[in-house]
Amino acid sequence: MTEIPEHLLKRSRAAKGKGDGDAAPSESTAVTPTADAAAAPAETGPPAIAAAAAAIPADKPAPEAPPEPHYITAAKKRKKIPGWALPLVAAVPLWAISFAGTMQQPEVEDPLFIAAEETYLVDGGCAGCHGGAGGGGVGYKLSDGSVLETFPDPVDQMVHIARGSGAIQGEDYGAERADGTREAGALGSMPAFENNLDQVHLELVVFHERAILSGEDTSSPEYQEWMNHMREEYEAGNTDPIDLEFLLKCANPEYTPGATGEGSDDEDHPCPGPQAEGEDEVAAG
Ligand code: HEC
Repeated sequence: MTEIPEHLLKRSRAAKGKGDGDAAPSESTAVTPTADAAAAPAETGPPAIAAAAAAIPADKPAPEAPPEPHYITAAKKRKKIPGWALPLVAAVPLWAISFAGTMQQPEVEDPLFIAAEETYLVDGGCAGCHGGAGGGGVGYKLSDGSVLETFPDPVDQMVHIARGSGAIQGEDYGAERADGTREAGALGSMPAFENNLDQVHLELVVFHERAILSGEDTSSPEYQEWMNHMREEYEAGNTDPIDLEFLLKCANPEYTPGATGEGSDDEDHPCPGPQAEGEDEVAAG
């Protein structure tokens, strides 16, 4: 038998006491035989408890249901989703996903962002090792500012992607991070993309990793200029190959083994990335 709550036992005992005390009157009133009146006084001990137990709602007694409002009845009768609307309804999750995407990437309609993401996901196949959102995998996490911590300047990152980790196996690269300085090959092998991406796509993928995956601030005029440059070159279909030697001139020897940091000596061919106006000349002079 299920356990009976104390308050019900008390109620049962009280009923029993009352029954005993009023034995005579209840016998006399037995002429009006309702089921309760007849049973309650006669029963003593466990059966009374059983009666009390029976009164315990095994399943909660349905609370008196208020009459259903007419509009609910109408709603229930209505067909839920009309057939013609089903495709629309099915598309809602897709819409939600793409909408969530636009929240992260407000300029998702911008061909620059589309091309950059495509390079990361498709042309470079970076996502396979670094995760679709840059969360990491076989390769390092790039998102949440991680790649910015390794490479304060995009051009050092370009060199690293172009020649891979094999070219500098065992050497330190990048800036000092909170978790130490990176050593090429410590985690595995980052493939060289020098011959698999052209210069425009190298810049695009670096832009994607920094601005989109790692939330780099793009608001400076220099950064905007770099973005405009990439947009123009991409739309013009420029397929200039990666010139690693040139990139090493632009890169910072502090972060990039083999870099010279001398900058570009060709005004028409500045170092890639957000460059302060006349930076190369200042560096040279
Ligand atoms: C085959 C797997 C693989 C692919 C594909 C790959 N990577 Fe990597 N990547 C790695 C590994 C492994 C490392 C770490 C290598 C090491 O230990 O030196 C790495 C390191 C990096 C780093 C250095 C990050 C840091 O903080 O030190 C960058 C940047 C990077 N990859 C960018 C890219 C880009 C951009 C692409 C696509 C164009 C790409 N990776 C494709 C495996 C890959």
